[in-house]
Amino acid sequence: MQILVTGGTGYIGSHTVVELLNHGDDVVIVDNLSNSHPIVLERIEIITDKRPDFIKADVCNFEKMNEVFSKYQFDSIIHFAGSKAVGESVEKPLLYYRNNIESTWVLVELMEKYNVPSIIFSSSATVYGQPDINPITEDFSYQCTNPYGRTKMINELFLKDTTVAYPNISAISLRYFNPIGAHESGLIGEDPQGIPNNLMPYITQVAIGKLEKLSIFGDDYDTHDGTGVRDYIHVVDLAKGHVAAVNYLQEHKDTSFLAVNLGTGIGYSVLDIVHAFEKIIGREIPYQITDRRLGDIATCYANPKKAKELLNWEAKFDLEKMCEDSWRWQIKNPKGYVRSNVF
Ligand code: NAD
Ligand code: UD1
Repeated sequence: MQILVTGGTGYIGSHTVVELLNHGDDVVIVDNLSNSHPIVLERIEIITDKRPDFIKADVCNFEKMNEVFSKYQFDSIIHFAGSKAVGESVEKPLLYYRNNIESTWVLVELMEKYNVPSIIFSSSATVYGQPDINPITEDFSYQCTNPYGRTKMINELFLKDTTVAYPNISAISLRYFNPIGAHESGLIGEDPQGIPNNLMPYITQVAIGKLEKLSIFGDDYDTHDGTGVRDYIHVVDLAKGHVAAVNYLQEHKDTSFLAVNLGTGIGYSVLDIVHAFEKIIGREIPYQITDRRLGDIATCYANPKKAKELLNWEAKFDLEKMCEDSWRWQIKNPKGYVRSNVF
């Protein structure tokens, strides 16, 4: 199949492109490189022995995207392109609402014009906000607590409405839990700009000596050790979930809209992650307990049953593998993509 991958040079997108190429699909990446580096394309080629077509463009640019759609006949789209930092979305809601919503609007408009039958959308467990109970199933209500989360919710509602109005278009919204890890080659991985917001890149940067110590945001939550519990999922497992979703829609053309969790179903605390990582590197990670981070919740983990039943997909990699691969990526690329020592 010919697949358009927006945001395909980003963290999750690049791993998904590798899985699609390994699966035998042809891939066209559109990315404006606002949060990624073009060297990713070389890395993808080294891993897969194939080079995806790449177009540097903003997905919100209708005219440019019209050119792309008129050049290729896509069988499906995977839409990763977007802005993803919760804190920044509070400060810059205009940027988030435009980038995250207009991009999907452009794609669906062009899907209708060029008869592209399916789209896979990157959603997030953040749409559930603070769930009353865990594990979380897809029928839980939307309880978004920030502009970023609301852009994901609005995208889902938009896709629901458009797939009803245009029965030739099908959509799956994949709600990711907490992706970590990297490709086992150490050639592609997460490359946060500045000081990382998320736990795993922060830990790996402490381990390599770039940051002094980890701050654990609160140890008084109602969890087994007082620190926050999340459902961490290996990014390669997550990537394979996208291949499964594309294939599902290829075989079930009468689908309108589906929302599906991609998680492992297992909740680990911050301290569980720190200790698992310490085991891999054979030394301690210095940390301090600080106040809770505003907006954080105690516990969030998926019920991944729907993904198994519908997509025949389930996460395979355990926490040890997630830590091992995160660490390999960090030591092979101590400064990220830009000044990597791999080549
Ligand atoms: P990322 O920032 O690494 O990748 C996003 C890519 O999209 C980047 O390469 C960026 O340059 C590109 N991009 C952004 N706006 C664009 C635009 N208008 N036109 C073209 N390209 C554009 O992020 P990621 O972690 O790979 O996340 C991918 C998607 O998954 C995002 O939509 C994000 O909201 C969602 N998501 C991520 C996580 C996570 O923890 N990483 C969790 C849940 C959901
Ligand atoms: C964050 C995003 C969420 C996104 C998810 C997946 C926020 C508020 N939410 O979720 O929208 O879908 O990433 O990538 O940004 N922690 C520390 N110290 C740190 C960093 C994190 O103790 O330096 C703790 C947090 O309190 C939390 C856990 O580690 O308990 C995971 O945090 P993080 O990696 O930032 O992910 P989430 O907050 O779950």
